[in-house]
Amino acid sequence: MSGERDPSVEGGAGFHTPVGSRRTFFRWVTTGLAGLIGLGLAVPLTGYVISPALKRREPQWVDVGALDELPEGEPKQLDHVTTSRDGYLESRFQKAVWAVKRPDGQVSVFAPMCTHLGCGYHWAGGEKQFKCPCHGSVFDLEGQVVAGPAPRPLDPLPAKVENGRLLVIFKEFKSGIAQRVEL
Ligand code: FES
Repeated sequence: MSGERDPSVEGGAGFHTPVGSRRTFFRWVTTGLAGLIGLGLAVPLTGYVISPALKRREPQWVDVGALDELPEGEPKQLDHVTTSRDGYLESRFQKAVWAVKRPDGQVSVFAPMCTHLGCGYHWAGGEKQFKCPCHGSVFDLEGQVVAGPAPRPLDPLPAKVENGRLLVIFKEFKSGIAQRVEL
């Protein structure tokens, strides 16, 4: 009929805007803005959440005891508890190092694992040698290989003395190879 309004036409006579096109446009704009706001929030939040997990473990100086308590020229095993933080995980480990105080006051510190296959070694005081019970590697006071299958000397660790205390950074190295490769 000539007097009926076309349902696809919005507004009064003469305005032929397709129904929903404005609504669709605003929906797109709203969705786009919401997406941008969401992205703006998500990027820093994601960085905040995952960045600790991506951080590499920081090496830490650990107090392993008083310098005065180290006998001169006689290696001593020093035990300590160290805390390591890896991302959100905080772990506590019981660690040990071997420390040797020289007559001049300098201190050498060795990682406690044999460089052959990682067994713990001990100090044989009578023979003045470090001995590994697993396959018979033997090291001198300087950590040099004297006998056995060990492919390299004992692994030295960073050490320093502050206020009469011996501080070390505990590190672990790959065993069984001639090169010193930190784990
Ligand atoms: S692990 Fe020490 S000699 Fe093999």
